[in-house]
Amino acid sequence: MRFDLKLYVNEKRKLIEDFINHYFNPAINPSILHDSVLYSLTAGGKRLRPILCIAAYEACRGKENIVPYATALEFIHTYSLIHDDLPAMDNDDLRRGKPTNHKVFGEAIAILAGDGLLTEAFSALSNTSYANVSPKTLLKVISEVSNAAGLRGMVAGQALDLISEGKEPDRETVEFIHFQKTAALIRASVKAGALLAETTEERVSCLEKYGESIGLAFQIVDDILDIEGTTEEMGKPKGSDLERGKMTYPRVFGIEESRKKAKELVERAIELLSIFDEKAEPLREIARYIIKRTS
Ligand code: IPE
Ligand code: IPE
Ligand code: MG
Ligand code: MG
Ligand code: MG
Repeated sequence: MRFDLKLYVNEKRKLIEDFINHYFNPAINPSILHDSVLYSLTAGGKRLRPILCIAAYEACRGKENIVPYATALEFIHTYSLIHDDLPAMDNDDLRRGKPTNHKVFGEAIAILAGDGLLTEAFSALSNTSYANVSPKTLLKVISEVSNAAGLRGMVAGQALDLISEGKEPDRETVEFIHFQKTAALIRASVKAGALLAETTEERVSCLEKYGESIGLAFQIVDDILDIEGTTEEMGKPKGSDLERGKMTYPRVFGIEESRKKAKELVERAIELLSIFDEKAEPLREIARYIIKRTS
């Protein structure tokens, strides 16, 4: 029987969402902070990063429950979206089909919800009681994820993205932005799964490269969707990049060349999985989905 990605994603999404509800019970005090965090976390994201982490784990090993560690990646991702939408950053009003966090809770609470989510991610990743994984392995995962999210990763990419608004398009800059702001965390999500599985170095390395390739493809497609997608399907405003003069792939390479690059990156990612058996089928299908997606 052919692997059904939709079924797989729904199954994992439910586990991730159950853990989110468990994690924030009992509720955070003050309640406005609780509501702000849960508002964004439960607004219905695709859960790509935790699902990639779980799929990478399962490609290497059986079905130990590592959902709590995978969900920590969604905490970081959701923090990055709350902050990305702030007036001082992309100034967007719609996210995951709902008004952005700061529109509902105000900027101060939105900033703090983001700060809290980022910090809680590392609290969850350092909790040794969630699964039968050694503290040494968890430390490797924390190192990987913190580097990807930090000043040499996502934050650097976000800074360059902002200071490049309105500038002349150039290839080197857009590559740096996209690798850092998006591919780094996606790569780390896949690598975290491989590390948690305590697999061979060769497998970790292939999965890491797979993650980086689909991560870059993911952001290229995000840029294309800003031009060709619909606000309804994406749940965020179409044309936001154009309005802000963002340094995007289509601006630097044109839309057809960008599409071609995304396709090549996905093909390369699938090739990198050639040493894996059918347990890597979810990863292969996720790679294919990245260029087909409309949201
Ligand atoms: C949006 O990420 C931000 C980018 C890095 C392009 P997603 O497209 O994964 O957003 P959600 O989680 O599904 O809302
Ligand atoms: C955001 O890139 C990357 C992040 C680290 C959040 P974008 O600014 O293109 O993401 P969207 O389009 O607002 O989701
Ligand atoms: Mg942005
Ligand atoms: Mg944005
Ligand atoms: Mg975008």
